[in-house]
Amino acid sequence: MKKLNFGIIGCGRIAYKHAEAIKKNEKANLLCVCDVIEERAVDYKDKYGAQEHYTDYHELLKNPDLNVVSICTPSGMHAEMGIAAAIAGKHVIVEKPMALSLKDADELIKACDENGVKLAVCFQNRFNPPVQKLRHALEAGRFGKLTHASAVIRWFRPQDYYDQAPWRGTLANDGGCLMNQSIHNIDLLQWMMGPVESVFGYTTNNLRKIECEDVGVAVLKFKSGALGVIEASTTVYPENLEETLNIFGEKGTVILGGIAVNKIETWKFVDSKEENGSLGEHQQEVPNIYGFGHNALIEDFIKAIIEDRKPYIDGREGIKALRLVLDIYHSTRSQKEIIF
Ligand SMILES: NC(=O)c1ccc[n+]([C@@H]2O[C@H](COP(=O)([O-])OP(=O)(O)OC[C@H]3O[C@@H](n4cnc5c(N)ncnc54)[C@H](O)[C@@H]3O)[C@@H](O)[C@H]2O)c1
Repeated sequence: MKKLNFGIIGCGRIAYKHAEAIKKNEKANLLCVCDVIEERAVDYKDKYGAQEHYTDYHELLKNPDLNVVSICTPSGMHAEMGIAAAIAGKHVIVEKPMALSLKDADELIKACDENGVKLAVCFQNRFNPPVQKLRHALEAGRFGKLTHASAVIRWFRPQDYYDQAPWRGTLANDGGCLMNQSIHNIDLLQWMMGPVESVFGYTTNNLRKIECEDVGVAVLKFKSGALGVIEASTTVYPENLEETLNIFGEKGTVILGGIAVNKIETWKFVDSKEENGSLGEHQQEVPNIYGFGHNALIEDFIKAIIEDRKPYIDGREGIKALRLVLDIYHSTRSQKEIIF
C-alpha cells in the first residue's frame, strides 16, 4: 500500500509525539515540516528524516504530495490553519484544544465536512489502556446507575514555563489551566458521564503572571442526573502531583490516577469476576504526561482514511470538552449557572 504523506505545522514541544508516531507507523511517511522559526523546522526535518521544510504553512499546504497535516501550533491558530488545510484537500489532525471558540471549532468541522477530509482532535488519553478499560466497563453497563464523578488535575507549571513563549497563558492563543492542561481530563469526564445539563464554575489567578486562570473549579449536573466536580490547577507545589478521574456508580467504583490517568488506583465492581488479578496489564508507566496515546491516535486516523470512516475522536467529539471549558469561563464571568 502507498504510504500516506504527513506534514507537521509547528515544531515545538508536542510536535515530536506526532513525528515519532508517524515514523513508527508503516503506513505513514513524514514528508514535510513547518515552523516560523526556520531552525526548528530544519531540526525536525533532520531529526525525523522529512524531505522538505517550510517557514510558511501556506507553502506547505501547496505540496501536492501531502495527504495529512498535524497542527501543533499555539491553540489560537488551530482553526485558521485547519480550515486552510481542509480547503487545500488535506486531512487534519489538530492538537487540543481544537480552537478557542465554538464559532471557530464549528467552522473547522464544517470546512472538513465540505472538503471531504477527516478531522481528529488530540485527546490522546482516550487511548490509555486504563481509560479504555474503564470505557469498556461503562459500555458494558457494569456501573449500574452512575451517581457522580470528578476530574482532578493537580499540576505544576512554574512562571518559566509561561515565559518561554509569548502565546502561553494568553486569552487569544491559549487560555489557562482549564483550557490548556486540564481539558484532557475534562474530556474524559464528559466522555464517561455523558451529556452535561449545567455547569457552575470559578476561576482565579493566584500565582502566575498570565492573563488566564491558574486555578479553576466547577460543579456539573449531567443529563443522567449524576453530578460532577472539576478541580484544576497548575500551581501545585513543587511538581505535577496527579491527574485523576473518579467514576462512581451504583455497582462500581473506578479511580484512574498516576500523573496522567495512566494507572488504575481503584477498580471495584459488584460483578468483580476474575479480573482483579489481571489489572496490572492495564497499568501504564509513562515517561511524561504526554503518554503514548499519539501513536494510537495516528494509527486510528490512518485507518479512518483507508476505511473511509470517522476517526475515534473527530471534531464533533473534540468540541464537547471545549464547550464545557468555555461554559466554565462564561459562568465565572456571569456568576451564573450555565444551562447547556
Ligand atoms: N496533546 C497534548 O498532550 C499536548 C501537550 C502539549 C501541547 N499541546 C498543544 O499543542 C499545541 C502546541 O503546544 P507546544 O507546547 O508544542 O507549543 P510550542 O510553543 O512549544 O510550539 C509551537 C510551535 O509553533 C510554531 N509556530 C507559531 N506560529 C506558527 C506559524 N504561523 N506557522 C508555523 N509554526 C508556527 C512556534 O514557533 C513553535 O515552535 C498547543 O495547542 C497545545 O495546547 C498538546
